[in-house]
Amino acid sequence: MTPIVRTVADLRSRVRAWKAAGEVIGVVPTMGALHDGHLSLARAARAECDRVITTIFVNPKQFNNPDDLKKYPRTEAADAALLATVPVDLIFAPAPEEVYPEGYGTKVSVAGVSEPLEGRMRPGHFDGVATVVTKLFGMTMADRGYFGQKDWQQLQVVLKLVADLNLAVHVVGCETIREADGLAMSSRNVRLTAAGRAKAPVLYAAITAAAMDIRAGQSDRMAIREAAEAMRAAGFERVEYIELRDAGTLMPSDDPSRPRRMLAAAWVDGVRLIDNIPV
Ligand code: PAJ
Repeated sequence: MTPIVRTVADLRSRVRAWKAAGEVIGVVPTMGALHDGHLSLARAARAECDRVITTIFVNPKQFNNPDDLKKYPRTEAADAALLATVPVDLIFAPAPEEVYPEGYGTKVSVAGVSEPLEGRMRPGHFDGVATVVTKLFGMTMADRGYFGQKDWQQLQVVLKLVADLNLAVHVVGCETIREADGLAMSSRNVRLTAAGRAKAPVLYAAITAAAMDIRAGQSDRMAIREAAEAMRAAGFERVEYIELRDAGTLMPSDDPSRPRRMLAAAWVDGVRLIDNIPV
């Protein structure tokens, strides 16, 4: 079975030995409740690195809703069994006090890219993500870090903090893994009722149709309005946003010559889903 390490001191002494042997270290940060999306990151790391660390830490600082933090699924034994199939070399699963000991005081806040979309809907969320990811890079001393495009804005936040802070980590963005019907895999999908699960794929279908229409020459606004209508008609109770943005800065973009991304967040049967695609 894969060793599960709980302290930074233990992690460091193991990683130092690997580094001394000249090995390339990859880290896959997660909050557990692993599915094929997470495993695809671990497999990418396995293919490109000598040593692979998966971190499992439900980071309290990135939850703006205490109930969401409490309800977040915790399935460490099942996660370890899945990771053994990759396999990874080490699981780092610290307690909150190990990551944020008494007196902890530093926050990493990435201006610009953290602010719109998820940043506006979830105040403080990306500060929590940026802080813990910076710490995980420091703790693991990784050469490469693997993140999913599923959380596109998060990926841009991580790329920006690595550039701004001159961290010696190469960030790899991996494609979104989907269910057969198009629904992006997510730890939150288990919260969907059968009825909600049946409606959920309409999110991806609607933004895919909008992106196609925009590429075919339809106006951005019209295509987006139709996508929102399709989701409401399918039974989504709330469309928080559907936006076409510059893929890197996440600022509004009507320049089709630059890489753009359509990003959406919506509620179905009481569960908040997000997704995004290139346009
Ligand atoms: P978590 O939601 O557990 O996701 C861990 C990583 O898996 C993220 O990089 C996420 O983008 C990726 N991922 C999730 N679903 C995916 C899918 N369907 N296809 C491809 N990749 C997918 O994101 C977090 O945790 C946290 O914010 C974290 C970065 C660990 C910091 O706490």
